[in-house]
Amino acid sequence: MNILSPSILAADFNILGQQIADVQKAGAPYLHVDVMDGMFVPSISFGMPVIKSIRSATDMVFDVHLMVQDPIRYIDEFADCGADIITFHLESAPDCFAVIDRIRACHKKVGITIKPATKVEELIPYLDKVDMILIMTVEPGFGGQPFIEASYDKIRALRSLLNERGLDTDIEVDGGITFDNVRKVIEAGANVIVAGSTVFRGDAAGNTRELLRLMESN
Ligand code: DX5
Ligand code: ZN
Repeated sequence: MNILSPSILAADFNILGQQIADVQKAGAPYLHVDVMDGMFVPSISFGMPVIKSIRSATDMVFDVHLMVQDPIRYIDEFADCGADIITFHLESAPDCFAVIDRIRACHKKVGITIKPATKVEELIPYLDKVDMILIMTVEPGFGGQPFIEASYDKIRALRSLLNERGLDTDIEVDGGITFDNVRKVIEAGANVIVAGSTVFRGDAAGNTRELLRLMESN
């Protein structure tokens, strides 16, 4: 099943609650929440208080993407404030197995992600230990960047590594997803689609419906 995860990084924070209600009503099941610490990535976004505050307003699945150095320090807090899936960067953690165990101990779904320059093969030790693998399709840190074309090969390579092992793990893509390329990333093997600018620039509900229409499997 294909799942849309609108990224609130591109939302209008002045009317965040309304924007979330709009995308939920239009049919988006997940909400993508980008946490940046100004260390692992140059920018700083938002953290636990924002997540806690929107948690009470919606029952959408909170798909929390940690762009944070040494993420094990914060897993319990993100679990407590309402994350449902916690995704961390392979490059950010000295011991990825320990982070995975910590997320599991909090009874949350586990995601692992790699930056554009990191090879898919580096994920091999973790393939059967996670619920979702996020292939970053832009350099993490900012919304509104163009999709990196080399990502299609990475998605295809990851899907075959999973198939070879009999795993049907979710593959998420994040960055530069548009009405023009969403079908192509799905055909390459992705099934969880993050979109920030494409959803929140203009009519968030209309954009959500259009993406969902393009994502329908046939
Ligand atoms: C980038 C973030 C993305 C971002 C995507 O570091 O991880 O989730 O919101 O934004 P768009 O869809 O505008 O590229
Ligand atoms: Zn993200």
